[in-house]
Amino acid sequence: MKKIVILISGRGSNMQALLSAKLPCRIAAVISNRADAQGLEIARQHGIATRVVEHRDYADRALFDTALSAVVDGYQPDFVVLAGFMRILTSEFVEHYRGRMINIHPSLLPAYAGMNTHERALHDGVKIHGCSVHFVTPDLDHGPLIIQAAVSVLSHDTAQTLAARVLKEEHHIYAQAIRWLCAEQVSLNAEGKVVSSRPQHPGSALIAPNME
Ligand code: GRF
Repeated sequence: MKKIVILISGRGSNMQALLSAKLPCRIAAVISNRADAQGLEIARQHGIATRVVEHRDYADRALFDTALSAVVDGYQPDFVVLAGFMRILTSEFVEHYRGRMINIHPSLLPAYAGMNTHERALHDGVKIHGCSVHFVTPDLDHGPLIIQAAVSVLSHDTAQTLAARVLKEEHHIYAQAIRWLCAEQVSLNAEGKVVSSRPQHPGSALIAPNME
């Protein structure tokens, strides 16, 4: 069975969704860069090992990343899952986990990389917004995409209501991406492209505003 470690920094709702998803893999540990991350307590309640590598204890990013990768590698994970992990990682760290580290981002990448994605989507008046799971590369929030989910943006949406609808989809697609990875149905090839053996269907279009 494949093994994963999950990296968090805060609330941990994606992590919690993964713990509840009965994934076909072993969650070896949840690691946080902050001792006060709420998600740590949730992980403990699920009987998952937790570790803290406080970024503030290290003089620079490279030293922190070296310490973090030593802890991560101690669990010998097949995949490293970033779930609201709020530190920018060095290229060395990212390359070390090439094809084995994934992230979830609350926008339809490549739109709205970075912070405040929901506010920016509302400001621009886009009608469709969403979330993305991607392999992590040194190009922040621009790694090869594995799966995305789209939601309608409603005229009365606030950043909070929109975030809540997107978050619900994050919880679905992150578990799905990990199922595919663990089943070796999705991977990153040597050219940096996502390869999938999954059957594909066009599905139905999401049109917003809805025309009914
Ligand atoms: C999520 O919106 C995720 O996409 C982003 O940070 C947020 C983390 O939320 N990277 P949580 O800690 O999983 O609740």
